[in-house]
Amino acid sequence: MPAVRARAFRDRLLRWSRRNGRDLPWRRTRDPYRVLVSEVMLQQTPVARVVPAYERFLDRFPSLRALARARLGDVLVEWTGLGYPRRARDLHRAAVAARGRLPRTVAGLDALPGVGPYTSGAVACFSHGARVAFADTNVRRALGRVFLGRTATEREAVAIDEAVMPRADPAGWHHALMDLGATVCVARAPRCDACPVYDACAAKGADPVPAVRRQAAFATSDRRVRGRVMRILTAERRVTLRSLRARVADSRVPRLVGDLAAEGLLVVRRGVVALP
Ligand code: ADE
Repeated sequence: MPAVRARAFRDRLLRWSRRNGRDLPWRRTRDPYRVLVSEVMLQQTPVARVVPAYERFLDRFPSLRALARARLGDVLVEWTGLGYPRRARDLHRAAVAARGRLPRTVAGLDALPGVGPYTSGAVACFSHGARVAFADTNVRRALGRVFLGRTATEREAVAIDEAVMPRADPAGWHHALMDLGATVCVARAPRCDACPVYDACAAKGADPVPAVRRQAAFATSDRRVRGRVMRILTAERRVTLRSLRARVADSRVPRLVGDLAAEGLLVVRRGVVALP
């Protein structure tokens, strides 16, 4: 990548972010545990929904040790409303595996159960200031449009990030990239008129809107039924399978309860379904 192009992009983005950066609760801490909680929550849940859940979760489980000591059922109760409860299970497993202290390196973090390259990069960067490249969906879209004229794959985005990331303040840099992707270079109808890097952009609003990757209809509705089951369980903690079937009124309940049990998200014993 031409150095001039990289520098123009970097300078304009950083200048923009000084005025337009979002003040979010997890940006006010460098505690690796808090950063990890925020990143796991943010993976599949919008910022507005994460903010209150993040505060609540940390009131309840203020430290890695507190989380590791908790029963998974209690963690799932605090996860209510965020969806994709496997993330809560993985976060709990990671807390147990970390034995009181999160690793400082990307490789160490990456080795924790359920922690992938994005999360380990984000935690190392935001907590320890590590100069490491990583990209979530928003960053893939923004970097990809600017430098490739289309949304980048994770690999491509990480390579571009490596090439354009400044020497100083990698955390501020990644916040700026995320803000650009989340508030200006949004998926549908990007706000190119407000974009600080419009002149340097290969797409300039012309990114063919990515074919929305729709989940198959049955997968979407399976997820909805799983959500209903988990909501009842987190509210009541235990319920008979019979009552669950009657209340959710969907023929998939037994199968999905079996799946949830296999994933360790609930336990079934003698016709009673309970939180683990
Ligand atoms: N700040 C740090 N990580 C973030 C994320 N994943 N989304 C939005 N803001 C963030």
